[in-house]
Amino acid sequence: MQLDYLDLYLIHQPYGDVFGSWRALGELLSEGRVRSIGVSNFESDRVMDLMLNSGLVPAINQVETHPFQQQIELQEFLKQNNIHTESWAPFAAGRNNIFSNELLLSLAKKYNKSVSQIILRWLIQRNIVAIPKSIHRERIVENFAIFDFEISNKDMSEIASLDTRKSVFFDHRDPASVKRISEMKLNI
Ligand SMILES: NC(=O)c1ccc[n+]([C@@H]2O[C@H](COP(=O)([O-])OP(=O)(O)OC[C@H]3O[C@@H](n4cnc5c(N)ncnc54)[C@H](OP(=O)(O)O)[C@@H]3O)[C@@H](O)[C@H]2O)c1
Repeated sequence: MQLDYLDLYLIHQPYGDVFGSWRALGELLSEGRVRSIGVSNFESDRVMDLMLNSGLVPAINQVETHPFQQQIELQEFLKQNNIHTESWAPFAAGRNNIFSNELLLSLAKKYNKSVSQIILRWLIQRNIVAIPKSIHRERIVENFAIFDFEISNKDMSEIASLDTRKSVFFDHRDPASVKRISEMKLNI
């Protein structure tokens, strides 16, 4: 990568030789080659196991988090353990017609913002880091313009009602998912 250090280095999935990877990341951290280390797609039990048996607390857990999968309990667990929640697919990658969701559209109209801005602001107000993806310059600019308004507590509660507590992609604990992802890794 030709960099002196990385800001953040994550374990992508809670599969395979997690402890071996975590030890390697711990070494990079103590050598100053990465500033922070963390995990992704870890449920609370996996995070607890990792912390207890490595003595190293992840800085971040990057998990699917958007209005349809809000991760309320996981975020609370992570907070109690001083771990930041980071949202991947903050727009559910466009699934479930998120950009034309009635409630989100009505809030966008109310705050004179776009649906994407409502979602990102809602995440920021929940203290969740978001990594939206766009290949369009104007959307990238739009996705940053969320620091000049605040969603009211009442409207935050309205958005909470959209939670289905389920992934719109797949369940990381489903044995078929574990197999599929592990096979993908073998093919890289
Ligand atoms: N840790 C993990 O396991 C994991 C899994 C999945 C994803 N991720 C990461 O999460 C990040 C985002 O995930 P994602 O790309 O899957 O989903 P996402 O950010 O929820 O959604 C991306 C989609 O939203 C569209 N979009 C972006 N900004 C928009 C706007 N302002 N208005 C309308 N549409 C907009 C994009 O279209 P255009 O690009 O055409 O603008 C794209 O189709 C990526 O960095 C990805 O690598 C991590």
